Amino acid sequence: MSSATALAHPNIALIKYWGKRDEGANLPAVGSLSVTLDALRTRTTVSFEADLARDELVLNGETAAAEQTRLARCLDALRQLAGSREFARVHSDNDFPTGAGLASSASGYAALTVAGAMALGLDPADARLEAVARIGSGSAPRSLYGGFVLLENTASGTRCKPLLAPAEWPLNVVVAVTTEAGKATSSRDGMVDSERTSPYYAPWVETHPADLARARTLLAARDFDGLADLAEHNCLKMHAVMLTTQPPLLYWLPVTLACMQVITELRRQGVPVFYTIDAGPQVKAVCLPEAADAVAEALGAVPGVLRLITGQLGEGARIVDADA
Ligand code: DP6
Repeated sequence: MSSATALAHPNIALIKYWGKRDEGANLPAVGSLSVTLDALRTRTTVSFEADLARDELVLNGETAAAEQTRLARCLDALRQLAGSREFARVHSDNDFPTGAGLASSASGYAALTVAGAMALGLDPADARLEAVARIGSGSAPRSLYGGFVLLENTASGTRCKPLLAPAEWPLNVVVAVTTEAGKATSSRDGMVDSERTSPYYAPWVETHPADLARARTLLAARDFDGLADLAEHNCLKMHAVMLTTQPPLLYWLPVTLACMQVITELRRQGVPVFYTIDAGPQVKAVCLPEAADAVAEALGAVPGVLRLITGQLGEGARIVDADA
């Protein structure tokens, strides 16, 4: 038996990925730019065992049959790289709500990829692991890296570029948790429906490269206000696509909107903060460190906010234990 344990953090995109250019290979239609979060984490142990008849996953203490196909495809890719035929037992735990718009699939598949690679004797820093993680989830390659991470489309696939380490622009993130429940429609299904049915899907894809290019310029200049305007605009464009999908993807709750309005008002008063929201009702407020207390106080007072998770930018996925 050979086994390894990895930690990975979720990431949130400031410039979003929504839509696929190849469903089979899980290639995104657009690039994206994310920040890795230190306050949430997935811990995953992968053990390859000669007597297993198939891959097995225990997620947060329960057998997770629904993930079986994606898990096996990801592990198949690792086995192919390592020339192995052994199946794996996988134990994965999240310290935050799973499948509720907090990017559990990103941290989950990043941790799985790195732990599985190590257990198979591969280099956990091998750039080919990006493609393995992407099979699990399009946003997962970004969680292999820390700080600000760009995911770019290339002719045959995707490539990640870590742009700034956490210390190079130490933004804070306050997550307003508005439900602990899982979402009704997964990102995977939702974005395919959007491509098929939303009249705003094509303009979303067309206008996206300009957002990504501008975000890189703003990031290089540490222009918080510019990034705030752009990230909120890009987020709302994605939600416009979601809302106009048939059937509609309305991921927000009334409390989601209330948080957005509070953040807008804070910024109007000069507090350096902006919001971003993914395929779920949670609101992520990104701010300069000196604003974190004021942001937490304001969001904590919004009726319907269950709790806050406050943190900084985190490191990429890493091995914490190995026994090969
Ligand atoms: C709204 O990476 O979860 O969070 O590739 O199908 O697993 P799959 O989708 P996923 O989609 C993330 C969508 C998003 C925006 C983003 O993180 O860029």
